[in-house]
Amino acid sequence: MKVCIPAEINTDELRVAATPKTVIRLIKQGFEVFVQNDAGIKANFSNADFTNSGATVLDTAKEIYSTGDIILKVLAPSSEEIEMMHKDQVILSYLWPAQNPELLEKLSSRGINAIAMDAIPRISRAQKMDVLSSMANIAGYRSVIESANYFGRFLNGQITAAGKVDPAKVLVIGAGVAGLAAIGTARSLGAIVRAFDTRMEVEEQIQSMGAQFLSVDIEEDGSTDSGYSKVMSPAFIEAEMALFKEQAKEIDIIITTAQIPGRKAPLLVLKEAVDEMKPGSVIVDLAASTGGNCELTKDGEIITTENGVIIVGKLSQLPSQASQLYGNNLCHLLDDMGKAENFAIDMDDDVVSRAMVTYNGSINWPPKPLPVSPQKKKEEVVEVVDEGPTEEEIAKKKATSTMVRLLIIGAFLLLLGQVAPADFMQHFTVFVLSVFIGWQVIWNVTHALHTPLMAVTNAISGIIVIGGLELFKNLEISMPLIILASIAILVASINIVGGFFVTHRMLKMFKK
Ligand code: NAI
Repeated sequence: MKVCIPAEINTDELRVAATPKTVIRLIKQGFEVFVQNDAGIKANFSNADFTNSGATVLDTAKEIYSTGDIILKVLAPSSEEIEMMHKDQVILSYLWPAQNPELLEKLSSRGINAIAMDAIPRISRAQKMDVLSSMANIAGYRSVIESANYFGRFLNGQITAAGKVDPAKVLVIGAGVAGLAAIGTARSLGAIVRAFDTRMEVEEQIQSMGAQFLSVDIEEDGSTDSGYSKVMSPAFIEAEMALFKEQAKEIDIIITTAQIPGRKAPLLVLKEAVDEMKPGSVIVDLAASTGGNCELTKDGEIITTENGVIIVGKLSQLPSQASQLYGNNLCHLLDDMGKAENFAIDMDDDVVSRAMVTYNGSINWPPKPLPVSPQKKKEEVVEVVDEGPTEEEIAKKKATSTMVRLLIIGAFLLLLGQVAPADFMQHFTVFVLSVFIGWQVIWNVTHALHTPLMAVTNAISGIIVIGGLELFKNLEISMPLIILASIAILVASINIVGGFFVTHRMLKMFKK
């Protein structure tokens, strides 16, 4: 079977649907690979790189489209490109089927079987084929890097001899794949990050990345069973706009990523919010191509508002890496479709049947819904956890048993005090209390903190060593005392050496 990769005709598109590495993979899958002359040049892959990987370079688009059984492309084919294709050919590319009904008409009327890579369903098995996720990850990272470039200040706070520099404040709207990548990058550059999303399940993810989760006073969850977010009520959107306007007063960089697949992006940052921002602030609108989350965004342009706010409606693509990830997504899908030897279009397959938007001359869109949940809902988690005693009951039980133990020890000491000499009693009470307190301290500290606790107990071990050495000063010391003092010094020394060793290892974990 022949797989062909044409050059992208859109001059703004820098990616290519295969790289020298994915060509090697396609050949291993049993395909013959053909690449159009200079198809990879904008992504820094030369014709020689492709031929060295085993591909054949063809001169023209016409040759490419007439040769291939399968066409791998990035952007949807133009009318001229569709004209060059023939019946039963399979094409894998972005198609945006919900927004492009005429394109689907054209493809189906020519009997082309088209897979929309942007319509791969959000199920765990399909994650490796999900081009939206792999590209969103790059866009999220890039949004921070480029905003930092336009923002004329440090992102991290610094204390220098010349004075203190405050860290930049970044607001990320929409914490999906792109949003989380943006949060991670902004945090690693030292910015203070706040984030908002309509799906409540992302609150923990946001917090675990060191950002602050913002919320509005309206109870409405944006999650759906399909894994996509839903359109929120007008009251919710209004509350969001008010929140962002308030935040805009102190935020330096806003990165918006809010999208509802197959629809226009929700409008969330109005002109009046932009007016509140300080001159030099930056907005990067990752939803620019679907209408933008900011009222002033211009798709494909970078503009500066009257009050000096830079609004970025276009990002550069990291074309080599993006092509590599996109190419990997395509290879994974071809793997699933049986590779070259057993290649088949299985319309009973959950992934293929939903992404194959034109098949055998008919349009297969919109597909049947596939109920998936990207994360367990909170109630389900509670259901599983809600067994056995509550935390409060456990704490109460613990307190009672400690009290009982203290009473038993007290009674025992009282009884012993009736018969034992006063000198012995004094030492014995101190000994019993130390054992009890030590035991309580160690048992009530969570396991994760045992290592730092061990480091702290080095100080106590030091006192034990000195106590043991003090005993040796007395030359008339008895044999049992010598043995006890030696054991005390030995055990305490082990604790000290171990403490230093563990502390050193812990510190190494934080060194980059
Ligand atoms: P997306 O690009 O469709 O949307 C981006 C974010 O905008 C989402 O988090 C959404 O909740 C948020 N959003 C929508 N309307 C908003 C509003 N009015 N205000 C604020 N935020 C709003 O989503 P993306 O990044 O593609 O994925 C969302 C989730 O889907 C991911 O977190 C992941 O858990 C899941 N997913 C699962 C996949 C799989 O299992 N194969 C693949 C891709 C995503």
